[in-house]
Amino acid sequence: MEKMDGKVIVITGGSSGMGAAMAKDFVTRGAKVAIFDLDEEKGNHLVAEAGDAAAYYKIDVTSKAEIKKGIQSVEEKYGPLTTLVNSAGVSKMVPFLESTEELWDLTMDVNLKATFLCCQIAIERMLEHGGGEILNMSSLSGKKASSWQTIYCASKFGVQGLTQSIAKEFADQNIRVNSICPGIVYTEMWEKLKHEYARKRNIDPEEVMDYFKGNIPMHRLVEMKDVINAAVFLLTEKASYLTGQSINLVGGEWMD
Ligand SMILES: NC(=O)c1ccc[n+]([C@@H]2O[C@H](COP(=O)([O-])OP(=O)(O)OC[C@H]3O[C@@H](n4cnc5c(N)ncnc54)[C@H](O)[C@@H]3O)[C@@H](O)[C@H]2O)c1
Repeated sequence: MEKMDGKVIVITGGSSGMGAAMAKDFVTRGAKVAIFDLDEEKGNHLVAEAGDAAAYYKIDVTSKAEIKKGIQSVEEKYGPLTTLVNSAGVSKMVPFLESTEELWDLTMDVNLKATFLCCQIAIERMLEHGGGEILNMSSLSGKKASSWQTIYCASKFGVQGLTQSIAKEFADQNIRVNSICPGIVYTEMWEKLKHEYARKRNIDPEEVMDYFKGNIPMHRLVEMKDVINAAVFLLTEKASYLTGQSINLVGGEWMD
């Protein structure tokens, strides 16, 4: 098992879905994990199971002041921040002409601005103590256009540009920044999205996942272990020459 001893990791969106799965796994590898999320109940439940190695912070990642305060508290508790995972995200599937300005603001704030803010504040700290690594949860929608997902795609294409540009700027300062681009991971996000996708395709919500599987060359969705394997690889020594890269977790659906 690849160890993560000595790492102090902030995971945004860590109360749910992929963020929560990574948090649980990283603790078993010896890391100290801090979850930044709005969902207090799920965050507290998760850290109660993980013991002293994990802590939950109720933080709105669209607020620079809250992130700054949060990272300060994490460093007081666990020591210098080594690692940031940006997994907080929102997604809604809606026809372009029904897409509102409010949805634009929310999606851009959580998916893109928060990633920018968290990277900036984390890198300030990482530079103080010699480096670190960042993983941004992007998406297949950060590379491939989809109708009814204009705003989400725009935000995730943005995450790709952000990841690559920051990676280039700090490549010679021992800070690596990479992303993962998953296809469909059946998390709470998809509990809601499947109803929206069913409307788009005019099918039953319960048929949506089989519909997707039919179109994926490997005929299965992304599993949590796929996400964890890619994340652990990117955040540890085995990926020490990788920065500004993205791993497509898509079962062969997309190859660029
Ligand atoms: N599920 C998928 O199929 C899929 C595929 C590709 C990419 N992604 C991306 O991966 C990431 C994780 O997705 P998931 O499916 O695990 O999502 P999820 O909905 O299970 O969890 C997202 C978490 O983000 C938190 N969050 C939202 N707004 C926040 C804010 N302002 N401040 C703090 N926390 C906030 C939520 O409370 C929630 O706990 C997201 O960025 C998503 O866009 C998901």
